Amino acid sequence: MNILTVLGARPQFIKAAPVSKALREAGHHEYLVHTGQHYDHAMSQIFFDELGIPQPDVNLGVGSGGHGKQTGAMLMRLEEVILEQRPDWVLVYGDTNSTLAGALAAVKLHVPVAHVEAGLRSFNRTMPEEHNRILTDHCADLLFCPTQTAVNNLAHEGITQGVHLVGDTMYDAVLQFGELARQRSRILETLGLTPKQYLLATVHRPYNTDNPEHLRSIIAAFVECGETVIFPVHPRTRARLAEADVMAMLKDAPQVRLIEPVGYLDMLMLEQHARMILTDSGGMQKEAYFFAVPCLTLRPETEWVETVEAGWNVVVGASKERIVTTLAEHTWPSSAPPAVFGAGQAALQSITILATITQEKRSV
Ligand code: UD1
Ligand code: UDP
Repeated sequence: MNILTVLGARPQFIKAAPVSKALREAGHHEYLVHTGQHYDHAMSQIFFDELGIPQPDVNLGVGSGGHGKQTGAMLMRLEEVILEQRPDWVLVYGDTNSTLAGALAAVKLHVPVAHVEAGLRSFNRTMPEEHNRILTDHCADLLFCPTQTAVNNLAHEGITQGVHLVGDTMYDAVLQFGELARQRSRILETLGLTPKQYLLATVHRPYNTDNPEHLRSIIAAFVECGETVIFPVHPRTRARLAEADVMAMLKDAPQVRLIEPVGYLDMLMLEQHARMILTDSGGMQKEAYFFAVPCLTLRPETEWVETVEAGWNVVVGASKERIVTTLAEHTWPSSAPPAVFGAGQAALQSITILATITQEKRSV
């Protein structure tokens, strides 16, 4: 089976690592296209190195830009690559502009599309990711869902063919790389952290970065809570912090520690030993859940409703008061989070389904 995989942004490298490994182990051919959406070493190459993902066969070098410019440039170049490679499937991940470009380029060329992490919905049409997900799911022939909620979301939009509940490849990744992180990461020692005596925070969604009031409110909460806050800063956020005029606030709060984005192995260590995770990241809400670390979601809603229903995630938005109060007063579950993201076999199940269907098509 010939797969053409489209990757471009940080979370996609992590989602793809277990799938790429399973593909290679089963003897399938994978042609890896990096769109170049993320390009800093700490946003891209570090994940290929740490997770053993093969170097991309081609990097389209698209880089940053407005949605139309970025997605359009990807689309043009992906079309050429797909025509040249003629794969059995184009495989796309998640909900970024790289996902949509891959799905759209393929569907126009009548190449079947498989979508990993299909069916997620925030029901918030102001999010670029929501457009990307909906459009990608409606282009896809095979939809690999991480949760039952995702399957239900697709059914509500009339998509029932080609839908498979396989679990979450990010859970596969945590299981596969947890031990390596324990062996290799020295991040706790480097930052002088004591387990369960710090908060871990990330912020990168336009809802927060592009609204100075939200950004100020979140930073004020980090400062006011008085706890050690480890804050690996996404490059999008770095510039916006200066614009939102929060640097003065941070100067008097050395316990709020802004650091460069970290690699996945360091992140796994930081996550599992944090007292709590505060984030607007989709992936980190799930990872908090996998590690049974309480999570505060710095957004008005979440796609990962299971984590909220289980009591391990509280959606607090960007309100300083809600963040500070929840940090101090919320009671968290005493029992382990229910296993709602599969059994760590999502990658294997997905490629088995892909291979079976490819075989069936060939024998028709
Ligand atoms: C993208 C995804 C988002 C995902 C996030 C993961 C879209 C629409 N958004 O958001 O769903 O959660 O990736 O991290 O696809 N930049 C750098 N260096 C880099 C990459 C980005 O400096 O290596 C800066 C640039 O100023 C760029 C900005 O970050 O303009 C935003 O990057 P972009 O890829 O457009 O969106 P993200 O916010 O990263
Ligand atoms: N991540 C990382 N280093 C960081 C921040 C995030 O390795 O400094 C990992 C995190 O563990 C998760 C993924 O990147 O696996 C989430 O990506 P991100 O938050 O950028 O995107 P989202 O999940 O919101 O789409």
